[in-house]
Amino acid sequence: MTQDKDLELIERILSLKQKRNAVLLVHNYQRPEVQAIADFLGDSLELSQKAADTEADVIVFCGVHFMAETASIINPGKVVLLPDAHAGCRMADMITAEALKKKKKELPDAKVVCYVNSTAEVKAESDICCTSANAVRIVQSLGEAEVIFVPDQYLGYYVATKLKRQMILWPGYCPTHVKIQPEDILREKQKHPGSIALAHPECTPEVTNVADEVLSTGGMIKFAKQTEVNTLIIGTEIGIIHRLKKENPGKTFIPATREAICPNMKKITLEKVLWALEDMQPQVKVPEDIRLRAYGAVQRMLGI
Ligand code: 13P
Ligand code: SF4
Repeated sequence: MTQDKDLELIERILSLKQKRNAVLLVHNYQRPEVQAIADFLGDSLELSQKAADTEADVIVFCGVHFMAETASIINPGKVVLLPDAHAGCRMADMITAEALKKKKKELPDAKVVCYVNSTAEVKAESDICCTSANAVRIVQSLGEAEVIFVPDQYLGYYVATKLKRQMILWPGYCPTHVKIQPEDILREKQKHPGSIALAHPECTPEVTNVADEVLSTGGMIKFAKQTEVNTLIIGTEIGIIHRLKKENPGKTFIPATREAICPNMKKITLEKVLWALEDMQPQVKVPEDIRLRAYGAVQRMLGI
């Protein structure tokens, strides 16, 4: 339930938002009270599409650093605020542009597909970007080309299996999603006969193999609305459960494990959103030389 203190903060945020001509883009893993102030709530792909479309002067990104960077890559003329400058993504930190350049030298003919969960410097070294919602389509669009997929080995493995092809996989992973074990899914399915299990493609293959559907967070939101099944086991960061329950009051959502929490996603609070709008800080701005090279990879993805 929203507290009185939250209501007061929300009122101040909404009034400042208007004054600054700002838009609030909020990821599905954010705290419930932050989800409540969203102009747009969604997955990485939906939010980057919104960032590309917006006419606001200021984008407040309630998510993690790479998401705000992507918004800045698309909108060099706008102010992009990330209410906590330390809200990073531990997977994105598992590859550097230097290490990728070295790999590219070893495989000069390969195309680099980078998961959007990567830094702008890594995007600048990549041919095309993807998110969990479009990764299969993006790799498919490259035909027979040899592919280096960075940095998520598990999303990469999922795509390679779907397309029945080989790819060179960077050994990165999401520390939150690897907390979900296949036993969690199997245990909850046994406890709830007739339920269906959804897993994010960042989960290990052992988990995606026992899940009924493998979906991005936006895909989970759509699936939950459409399905006639009443009990859904959710194999992703547990912040999404708030939205699932709110939009589907007649259905039951069970987290595969309560340990699947992304500490960085939880760094954004209402207070920090308010301070960001008051001070117009912390801003995320990608240096122009990197931005121009990263823009190609993001733009090619949005085109597909
Ligand atoms: P989605 O694009 O599915 O929302 O995932 C983003 C993310 O960071 C998952 O950990
Ligand atoms: Fe990064 Fe994992 Fe957090 Fe998503 S859940 S932002 S991949 S650390």
